Amino acid sequence: MHQFDLKNKTAVITGGAQGFGLDIAKKFLSSGSKVFIWDIDEKELLKATKEVNNSNLNYNVVDVSNFEQVQKTVNDIILKNKIDILINNAGITGPTAELWNYNIKEWNSIININLHGTFYCCKSIVPHMIKNNYGRIVNIASVAGKDGNANASAYSSAKAGVIGLTKSLGKELAKYNIAVNAITPAGAKTKILDQMSKEHVQWMLSKVPRGRFLEINELSSMVCWLSSEENSFSTAAVFDISGGRSTY
Ligand SMILES: NC(=O)c1ccc[n+]([C@@H]2O[C@H](COP(=O)([O-])OP(=O)(O)OC[C@H]3O[C@@H](n4cnc5c(N)ncnc54)[C@H](O)[C@@H]3O)[C@@H](O)[C@H]2O)c1
Repeated sequence: MHQFDLKNKTAVITGGAQGFGLDIAKKFLSSGSKVFIWDIDEKELLKATKEVNNSNLNYNVVDVSNFEQVQKTVNDIILKNKIDILINNAGITGPTAELWNYNIKEWNSIININLHGTFYCCKSIVPHMIKNNYGRIVNIASVAGKDGNANASAYSSAKAGVIGLTKSLGKELAKYNIAVNAITPAGAKTKILDQMSKEHVQWMLSKVPRGRFLEINELSSMVCWLSSEENSFSTAAVFDISGGRSTY
């Protein structure tokens, strides 16, 4: 595996207990970073910490859609650390349904976790990055946010919002040594797929010219470069990892 130099860096990875987030955490640890994984699921956090068994891995039980919880956790972390890297990865797809049949509570929670959660984490951490004149933020959006998936309007809207947030914040921070980028993955086999109907997942796969699911390590490799000092110019940008599905 190609390694990036993340020595003396501290990273916060939301939704880090499993799936993409945990794999990113493992790559960051092997690249020398200290890592805080945040997740709402304490059981999975404990399982992940035990499995990884690395003293540079820390965890916090945080609901990213709760601003007070996010801010308190950031305040605790910065007592002894600076935060150099933020990966906004926590997300849910919600169920598969047409917009007019979408449950309002489900809609709100999809927007709250994917979009407002990203806003809350950036709002709490960016002032510390500005103070240090250094930061790398990677927001995990989705190909759904670019293309708009039928029967996934809440998720597509939330991820399109994450793309817009990335472009705005990246420009606001461009005068500092802080990069803000988004990634738009196609489907990968993680637990999130269980939230959607089997037919919808098959439809997603049928749209990918590569003809297969994205591998989790393919995603985390891209995140590593974007999170490293080597990414010294790209910002406010959207990096595609959709196996040829997106045409822009
Ligand atoms: N797997 C895919 O096919 C795919 C494709 C495109 C984009 N994505 C995006 O990638 C990101 C990671 O997804 P994944 O596939 O690893 O899914 P996953 O379900 O394996 O992991 C998501 C993690 O986020 C956590 N989480 C959910 N709500 C939270 C909250 N309110 N606060 C804190 N943590 C919370 C979950 O507990 C879980 O551990 C998500 O943003 C998802 O939308 C995934």
